[in-house]
Amino acid sequence: MKKQIFLLATMLTLATSCSSYSRKNQKLTLEAKGVIYKILYYASLAGSSHNSQPWKAEVYGEDSILVFADISRKLQVVDPTLRELYISVGAFIENLSRAASYFGYETEIKVHNLSDINGGPVASVTLNKSNEKREETILNDIKLRTTLRILYDTNPIKEADWMTLIAVAPSNIHYFSADSEKGNYIKQKELESYTQQAKNKNAQDELASWIRFSNKDVKEKQDGLTTEGMGIKGIGGFVVRNFFKPGDSKKESFVNQGIDKTKLQVENCGGWLIITQPSENIESWINTGRLYQAMHLKCRKMNIGFHPMNQISEETDFGRKANTFLGLNGQILFIARIGYVKEYPEPVSVRRPVESFTTFK
Ligand SMILES: Cc1cc2nc3c(=O)[nH]c(=O)nc-3n(C[C@H](O)[C@H](O)[C@H](O)COP(=O)(O)O)c2cc1C
Repeated sequence: MKKQIFLLATMLTLATSCSSYSRKNQKLTLEAKGVIYKILYYASLAGSSHNSQPWKAEVYGEDSILVFADISRKLQVVDPTLRELYISVGAFIENLSRAASYFGYETEIKVHNLSDINGGPVASVTLNKSNEKREETILNDIKLRTTLRILYDTNPIKEADWMTLIAVAPSNIHYFSADSEKGNYIKQKELESYTQQAKNKNAQDELASWIRFSNKDVKEKQDGLTTEGMGIKGIGGFVVRNFFKPGDSKKESFVNQGIDKTKLQVENCGGWLIITQPSENIESWINTGRLYQAMHLKCRKMNIGFHPMNQISEETDFGRKANTFLGLNGQILFIARIGYVKEYPEPVSVRRPVESFTTFK
């Protein structure tokens, strides 16, 4: 009998450690929640650098939300100016606005200047009842958006499709086909800048602090980069989840595997999307985040995978040189690899609960 209980316990342990804890395990019953809670939940499904989810919210009554940047979640090494942190907050605001429209509200959004912020809100959002007909697919688009790090088809993106994406903001968004000279330049520089960052000890330490290999870490923190999110699946995923520590990501073999994988990723895509802005300030960063999110939300319906790869804009000098080579007016603030995919996997990246970043006043 004792032997059978032991066997059963071993099988149960193995079964739970075999499967990875991801978004599908995050049980959430939204039905009983108020509309603003639901809107904030959908807002939090936005992408963010290292899945740091650097946003906070304060809710006043039925129609007013203040959005804050959570600076304690900054990436000091790869994002010292907080550009990507605010881009992530911008993505949150875009989702918030779209989710609000689904629930029958038009949003009035006032973005504040950096000099005015000083720990204060980044944006004030007012919800006004609207009679506009809602787009029925909005919530599904938000729920199913996911960063795809798999290899893509190398066929160029059809003109009608990339035009649909850059139509989000034609003067800020630029498309380069992977088989063009400029696309080839981005491919090479992306790999070079990724390699430089991957070998930087400080960036390695920072990345390790956002890595959640074990199911225990994923459940506890509900943020960061998980094995499944990084595309480490199957037996490899099982081994990494159960036997690796975040610090192992700094080992030479792991770093080199990341570089090899990146080489394959940049070689296997249909093209590149770049967002530029005429100047750099909180408003342009927030706007960039909104444009990124808006474009990404369109991709799944066209079977286009979307993978932000921002090392060119993060690593010193790469961005400036790329600006010149690509002949772009304005600063490069965001770069993504895109390409057709045969299957579109479900999102796996976890999110912190609404209560953990929101105060209901
Ligand atoms: C500003 C910004 C920069 C990002 N940079 C990268 C990057 O360089 N490489 C990468 O693999 N993912 C990058 N991402 C994607 C995030 O890692 C991803 O959004 C996050 O892990 C949550 O996953 P999800 O987008 O599937 O919800 C970036 C996202 C944002 C918003």
